[in-house]
Amino acid sequence: MNEFVLARVLHVLGVVLWIGGVAMVTTVLIPAMAQMRSPAERREFFQRVESRFAPQARLTTLLVGVSGFYMVHILGAWDRFTQPSYWWMHAMVLIWLLFSVMLFVIEPRVLRRQVTDTAVQDAEERFVRMRRMHRIMLALSLITVAGAVAGSHGWMP
Ligand code: HEM
Repeated sequence: MNEFVLARVLHVLGVVLWIGGVAMVTTVLIPAMAQMRSPAERREFFQRVESRFAPQARLTTLLVGVSGFYMVHILGAWDRFTQPSYWWMHAMVLIWLLFSVMLFVIEPRVLRRQVTDTAVQDAEERFVRMRRMHRIMLALSLITVAGAVAGSHGWMP
């Protein structure tokens, strides 16, 4: 198996684990949390799930980034970033950047602190914001996956 194919395999495996996890959180866990009675119950559940998912998501984000840039290098495809028809390349890097900032910068510093020490009203508003954010990120990720598969197999808009 040559290096490019291996990078592609690792890239797609990383995407499946990572975006699949985001889909699970958005469409199953967050709706289940919405039915919980107290913010304290939600908080406890969220912390238990998050402490398992976050390290896994950080690892897959790294894998997708390294394999992605390696493929750009092997393909000599840096000039794609200057062409609008390769919007799906921009979308991949954008989604990757957004998730990286969230997982490596915002999540460890801000979210964890907020989750432990705020009033019930704040907790409710934060939950609504978190649900909206997850829906937006999942929608953008799925559009990116669709565009990347179609684009890398020859589709041009
Ligand atoms: C640093 C970020 C990323 C870079 C540099 C990158 C780069 C690449 C490259 C060079 C390809 C191969 C294109 C070709 O064969 O013409 C590719 C394929 C692909 N990427 Fe990314 N990518 C990144 C992040 C992502 C993210 C975040 C996702 C998902 C949301 C994603 C999903 C895909 C998919 C689904 C394919 C197509 C695989 C196939 O059909 O064989 N990538 N990526």
